[in-house]
Amino acid sequence: MRVLGIETSCDETSAAIVSGTPDDMQLESLVILSQDVHRLFGGVVPEIASRQHLVGIVPAVNAALHDAQRSLGDLDAIAVTHAPGLVGALLVGTSYAKTLAFSHGLPVVPVHHLEGHLFATLLEQPEAKPPFTALLVSGGHTLLLDVPEWGRYQLLGQTRDDAVGEAFDKVAKLLGLPYPGGRPVELLAATAESPEHGHAHYFARPMLRRRAVVTDDDYFDCSFSGLKTAVLYAVRRAEAAGDIEQQRASIARGFQDAVIDTLVEKVYRAAKLRRRSRVVLGGGVACNGALQQAMRERFAGRNGVVFAPTPRLATDNAAMIAAAGLFRALQGEHAAPDMTATASLPIPGIFSGKF
Ligand code: KG4
Ligand code: ZN
Repeated sequence: MRVLGIETSCDETSAAIVSGTPDDMQLESLVILSQDVHRLFGGVVPEIASRQHLVGIVPAVNAALHDAQRSLGDLDAIAVTHAPGLVGALLVGTSYAKTLAFSHGLPVVPVHHLEGHLFATLLEQPEAKPPFTALLVSGGHTLLLDVPEWGRYQLLGQTRDDAVGEAFDKVAKLLGLPYPGGRPVELLAATAESPEHGHAHYFARPMLRRRAVVTDDDYFDCSFSGLKTAVLYAVRRAEAAGDIEQQRASIARGFQDAVIDTLVEKVYRAAKLRRRSRVVLGGGVACNGALQQAMRERFAGRNGVVFAPTPRLATDNAAMIAAAGLFRALQGEHAAPDMTATASLPIPGIFSGKF
């Protein structure tokens, strides 16, 4: 089976070709057109995003076919992100996918963007397959899932307020760093001395209590808005003391350490509960090297393996959509002609249940 994937849910216009089966998948091509224009506004402007997708979608798909040395006749299906995301942006992808598919007699497979993130690592590391514990951390989502098999996702925890990436972006803004702020915060934090030397700011770890038990409501959930406010006060204090330049790196480091400690502990609890030895990270924040390293150190003791995609596949891209679409297509799923874009929708196959 060979699938063309299309992703336009936010600010990347992307197309990719993937072939094979979930156990043996090949990435034949991947084109990502990133919309840098949003940097000027410090965040994604939906109307501009839709217009840029309109400009980029046809060249992106043509380039993906060209790079893979394939034509539309070589495809078995077209997979497209239909939810969640910016509706105007999603509509560009879904409308184009439906038109292209209709004119070439191909089925369209609607893909949930977050299911895509779960498949991203599989394209590079065939061992990143279920059963595993998954942490999806992006600009819009923070989800802790148990994945017994593809298509079945138990929701264990999520954020109660800001997504992790959103917190990185807001903290970056407070520290005068560019948007998107995750990578700049990571780089700045790396220049601070380590907390063992007493130079990092210390921020309370949100929702991490000693003696927590699995039946507590916040055992798996996270919260980042209080941490963001604590950073705001630290920045204000440093500014009032005329010391912000000296303290920026230490504040960034203190923030990142608090986020990482929280995420590592929540993932560890989830893996332990379900006795999983594999952990798969997904979403833009999964690019964070300090997060990956802390996660690997924590799991080394229980012979756990932590998989994280490379940056190109961690951030939004169509290869992961083609991969999830290939799985869904093999299940015989395809869209009715009235399939459309939806701003928010649960991942198909998600369930919550007793721990
Ligand atoms: O998955 P993604 O590309 O888009 C969404 O679906 O949101 O994630 C983007 C998010 C942004 O908030 C960005 O700041 C964050 O991922 N991010 C990072 C890093 N690289 C990107 N956060 C922390 N450390 C990084 N190295
Ligand atoms: Zn994403």
